[in-house]
Amino acid sequence: MKTVDQLDLHGKRVFVRVDFNTPLAEGPDGTLVVTDDTRVREALPTLRYVVEHGGRLVVASHLGRPKGKRNPKLSVAPPVRRLAELLGQPVPLLDGITGPEVEARVNALEPGEALAIENVRFDPGEEKNDPTFASALARLADVYVNDAFGAAHRSHASTAGMVPLVKERAAGFLMKKELDYLGRVLAEPQRPFVAVLGGAKVSDKIGVLERLVQIVDALIVGGAMAYTFLKAEGVRVGASLVEDGHLDQARRFLDTARQRGITFLLPEDHVIVQAVDQPAGARATEGAEIPDGWIGVDIGPKTRERFAREIRRGKTVMWNGPMGIFETDAYARGTQAVADAVAEATKSGGTTIVGGGDSVAAARKAGVIPHITHVSTGGGASLEYLEGKVLPGVAALEG
Ligand code: 3PG
Repeated sequence: MKTVDQLDLHGKRVFVRVDFNTPLAEGPDGTLVVTDDTRVREALPTLRYVVEHGGRLVVASHLGRPKGKRNPKLSVAPPVRRLAELLGQPVPLLDGITGPEVEARVNALEPGEALAIENVRFDPGEEKNDPTFASALARLADVYVNDAFGAAHRSHASTAGMVPLVKERAAGFLMKKELDYLGRVLAEPQRPFVAVLGGAKVSDKIGVLERLVQIVDALIVGGAMAYTFLKAEGVRVGASLVEDGHLDQARRFLDTARQRGITFLLPEDHVIVQAVDQPAGARATEGAEIPDGWIGVDIGPKTRERFAREIRRGKTVMWNGPMGIFETDAYARGTQAVADAVAEATKSGGTTIVGGGDSVAAARKAGVIPHITHVSTGGGASLEYLEGKVLPGVAALEG
């Protein structure tokens, strides 16, 4: 797989697929603005490289899930405006995505100039990977560059379908960096290798858990998915969120973890409430059992201590998913403790990787982003990669 710096870009129309799927909020004057520009900043090295090397830059992204229909609230205008500020040059946003008018504007670009097309998911052909839409996109490009690691697990027209239709193709610097970090962790992790997984659903993470259990030295599970594992072991979990349909799968996984003989940690105490919207009533349990009618919302103080101790020992630490409902301050201490411990592991010479929107947001809230070795821009994409799945966006570049 080539990277963008291995191609001669001068005078060529360089179509760069980025992942500008950024969180938005209304500004004081009612216009939508990007509230976290990480994905725009992370794509900047590639986009800057293209314009500095005389490429005629066409920026393309999806934003949200407009389901094939135009939706002004999901225009890529806010991240494109942010890009223009960061790049220090105009990046006009076209109203269209493909077609003669768009082609005329792209063909009129001078070397070093840039423009963006609208949200590719406004067209129903994008998510269907429709060949007609893919070839219409390909007509905008002499060179195709994919820097959208966050969308590499999607087999869509702009991430997969159009790629073989363009003469030259390469990965962007962000794509390369993400694959390098995650690939190195899987291939040659420094040990002990500690993985921390959280979040609501076992069903979302079971694939990655099954892969990681084969390669890590310690596996730590928190967040709501821990309640499914605890229930599978016969522990009472009160009214906590449980995926009853996945209890057998959880049981089988626990057997594998035990057979492997690795350190496998589940919460040994919890923060519980009677109603999630009444944090004032929160209390910690004595042990792993949760009384009837109570809901687990975070790991408890003993678990915080135990998890943090294990994480700090890691020479490779991978974290994906919060330990509780961290958006509510009263339930954020577990996630905060994990974020702090991951940062400490970095300070003691470990390589630390954080992926998934919620964990990255939690790490940001905890102020530890500068102390993380690699913050992945991919949520679903990083999980699928770690699971060992082929990412269609990457496979297309290799083809
Ligand atoms: C993400 O935010 O994980 C990516 O942009 C992919 O978005 P999607 O889940 O809507 O495909």
